[in-house]
Amino acid sequence: MAIVCKSAGEIEKMRRSGRIVRQVLDAVTAMVAPGLSTMDLERAAEKKIRDLGAKPAFKGYYDYPCVLCTSINQEVVHGIPSETRRLAAGDIVSIDCGVVLDGYYGDAAVTVPVGEISEEVRTLVAVTEQSLHRGIAAALAGGRVGDIGAAVQEHAEAAGFSVVREFVGHGIGTKLHEDPQVPNYGVRDQGLKLKEGMVIAIEPMVNAGGASVRVLDDKWTAVTQDGKPSAHFEHCVAITKDGPVILTD
Ligand code: MF3
Ligand code: CO
Repeated sequence: MAIVCKSAGEIEKMRRSGRIVRQVLDAVTAMVAPGLSTMDLERAAEKKIRDLGAKPAFKGYYDYPCVLCTSINQEVVHGIPSETRRLAAGDIVSIDCGVVLDGYYGDAAVTVPVGEISEEVRTLVAVTEQSLHRGIAAALAGGRVGDIGAAVQEHAEAAGFSVVREFVGHGIGTKLHEDPQVPNYGVRDQGLKLKEGMVIAIEPMVNAGGASVRVLDDKWTAVTQDGKPSAHFEHCVAITKDGPVILTD
């Protein structure tokens, strides 16, 4: 698949999709509390997406059943919302949402604490979000995909955490997943050249323990092999002559 660079007009459309994703994530983040089921978040998100005039991007994508992925604690990504899965104080929940508006996709994720969380988990969440912003700062025209991965990886590993290898960020535009792949690990000055007009989703998944993950029998939920917690943040970013522009703010 070829990499599709976007015009300023297309990036403007993606900003609109991105803004809707952010509004949905803000709304469901505000709901997060002990006792709430992940299906409560799912229902609120689906209503909000449709009220804002967009369509969910994940539901039906390779038969994924929901508009959100909700991944708790040792779940890394692609946790499926459930009526019986309730949030408890001390948990962290990654909420990942994608929408399509006027043919253009937006995709973002946040990890939210439920009540009071431990110091270690608080650090994991903070470092993962910082890693995302390190990666975004490295998304420069003339640079390379490896610059992004290296920036994410160095920050996460300096804190004693590890980055997941099996799932990566991606180009995004008129499809949810476009080329190139954007790993959260890499070597500076290596990999594909970044160009003006590229739009990528950068999405570090950072584990408190080892990097290994496995997928549960539901065929979706990825969990850490060692059962330790994992955090995930994601933004869509346009590479422009004025530097990286976050479209999902
Ligand atoms: N943000 C994730 C991604 O970029 C979520 C995809 S879930 C799926 O891959 F259901 F759509 F596959
Ligand atoms: Co994504």
